[in-house]
Amino acid sequence: MNASPGAVADIIVLHGARTSLVLECVAGGAPLWRYWGPALHADGAPWPPLASQRPTPSSSPDTDQPFSLFPTFGGGWFNQSALLAHRDGRDFHQAFQRCEIDWREPGRAAVVRLFDDVAALTIEVSLAMSAEDDTLTISTVLTNTGDGVLEVQWLAAGVLPLPERSANVRSFVGRHMDEFRPVEDALSRSGWRRENRRGLTSHGCFPGAVVTTPGTTHDTGLTYGVHLAWSGNHAQLIDSFDDGRFQWQMGEWLAPGEVRLGPGERLASPEMIAVCSAGGLNGVAQGFHVAARRRIAWPGGTMRPRPASLNTWEGFYFRHDQAELRQLASLAAGIGMERFVLDDGWFRGRNNDTTSLGDWTPDPAKYPEGLGDLIDYVTGLGLEFGLWVEPEMVNPDSDLLRAHPDWALELAGRPRLTARNQLVLDLTRPEVVDYLFGAIDTLLRGHPIGYLKWDHNRDLATAGGAGGRAAYHNQILAAYGLMARLRAAHPEVEIEACAGGGGRIDMGVLRHTHRFWTSDNIDAVSRLGIQRGFLQFFPPEIMGAHVGADPAHTTGRGQSMAFRAAVALPGHFGVELDLRKLDTADLARLADKVRLYKDLRGILHGGRVWLGDGEDGMVWQAHADAAETELVVLAYRADPASFGHAAPLRLPMLAAEARYRVRRVDRDADAEGQIASGARLGAIGWPMPPLRAERAVILRLTRLDGPT
Ligand code: GLA
Repeated sequence: MNASPGAVADIIVLHGARTSLVLECVAGGAPLWRYWGPALHADGAPWPPLASQRPTPSSSPDTDQPFSLFPTFGGGWFNQSALLAHRDGRDFHQAFQRCEIDWREPGRAAVVRLFDDVAALTIEVSLAMSAEDDTLTISTVLTNTGDGVLEVQWLAAGVLPLPERSANVRSFVGRHMDEFRPVEDALSRSGWRRENRRGLTSHGCFPGAVVTTPGTTHDTGLTYGVHLAWSGNHAQLIDSFDDGRFQWQMGEWLAPGEVRLGPGERLASPEMIAVCSAGGLNGVAQGFHVAARRRIAWPGGTMRPRPASLNTWEGFYFRHDQAELRQLASLAAGIGMERFVLDDGWFRGRNNDTTSLGDWTPDPAKYPEGLGDLIDYVTGLGLEFGLWVEPEMVNPDSDLLRAHPDWALELAGRPRLTARNQLVLDLTRPEVVDYLFGAIDTLLRGHPIGYLKWDHNRDLATAGGAGGRAAYHNQILAAYGLMARLRAAHPEVEIEACAGGGGRIDMGVLRHTHRFWTSDNIDAVSRLGIQRGFLQFFPPEIMGAHVGADPAHTTGRGQSMAFRAAVALPGHFGVELDLRKLDTADLARLADKVRLYKDLRGILHGGRVWLGDGEDGMVWQAHADAAETELVVLAYRADPASFGHAAPLRLPMLAAEARYRVRRVDRDADAEGQIASGARLGAIGWPMPPLRAERAVILRLTRLDGPT
């Protein structure tokens, strides 16, 4: 590639409010990455072509191959390719002769269409920059325009540049009951790669990561984040170039033979959502929160205040005694709860986890007259009724599988691998989806059920569909399709995505759902870390957060009611214990916390969230309402203090010139509060009381003068 001196590059520029992206169009190839980072002013100055500035290094092809929007293998690009595909062993190399730019919104959204007439395929990369939150959404469609079958091993959803000074990548590992544990890896000339092949978003390999530059903190430093909006297998990788930069790719991980495109067929990638912020980890989180909020289809179009929810699981497990459940509902209504969710155990023969998944009619022994009596009782108390289902699953010991032994995903000649004693239904068969739609639709039509807790309690294994081909990709699309069909038939119903807690938390399923069950671990100390990881990507109003029993069932550790409630409070608050077992004092304390939640939820769930680390092991988070005139600050101490005097809590996100009234609201002793400037609260901090381990302080800040 050569460029004459003084030549002007033909560029594509997308601007967000604080971010810009620049690509250079080149003849006979994909546009080249020139920039993605903090906003560049639209100064109108011309860009010299990259070729005029970049001599070819020694011992490399005479034609330079700079980093493009869609780099491909086999023609002198030696880093990771955005596509790995072949046609019966041929066409393993792809390159583009033509490029079309189709502007969808000038300066904000475009589709870049690339044509390879030799390998006979086209690529369409959609790029959209949000002016509201600076998130960049990228997705890619591959079309086979040739005659034979195109076998696809990898199609990147998006390919992004990272600057030379990228230092660390923070991703999230975990397991059932320990989701969102951050792990930090240094970036170097070696590659970084994480893959999830569990067939579901997974507890242990979250499809997203954050890249930091030296000196990044919660609030400062150039920081990048990506997330793949997909509930199945995925791969994410960072690969270093010989010019010091890095590329970041994400996409669906495909099983061998899973995608074979016939003539004219297409593969559409999931969306990759990316954020760049000069405002550190919180800046990236705030971008993701707005992007997530935009994806949620609330009944009626807007979110109503998130109802305080009582869930029956840990209090009752499979023991459904209607008299007991009525006592529970009455107590729940008495302390101000607003939604009652009947968890696992309600359907035909379901007395433990070995049986009955698939048989979605009420258990005649527990509910001889059906669910109607209990639902009437619960709704008569003013509570909304919710129901647990696990549609994609079936127990071998079920009427459903006895009637349709071929309905589970399996591979001929291989043992059926159960997990939690269950198999996965083959949703790629339309008759299976029709059966599930019919069963759930009947429940929803028959009763005023406002909410489904939609579970998925195992990974996919031996996931072969009809014909013995891997069914992972189509299974996810079919599950989304079933959710969409049910939502279309019952638009007033909200859905919670659960998968043994946080195994299906992503912005793909969020298009169809309204809450995540964050973790099966409700221990408040464990939850502090899990919730902070969740909040890096998702806003608090969809973070299911419950007050559990003391001691916690999953860890055996016990905490005070005040601490358990303070940890659950910022999320979509709920209670998951047998209220009949609380003594009067704890029941009254819990009722107080439900009141406090209702008082604060308009602030907690409205706007920006900041996480911070205080001194001496304190952690805190601040939530502002949409107008940022009210804030709630929750400060937690998990471990004993080591300082003699508690250090003040510095709050750097406040407007320096504004004055705030600060009140402690987890006690009513401080009703008047004190007034301090944002500058003082940022530089010196709020004087903290001494706190023992597993204690919290909740402050409400009201801005006294209008925005300046
Ligand atoms: C999963 C969920 C729990 C509960 C059980 C019921 O583990 O995460 O909240 O619903 O299933 O079997």
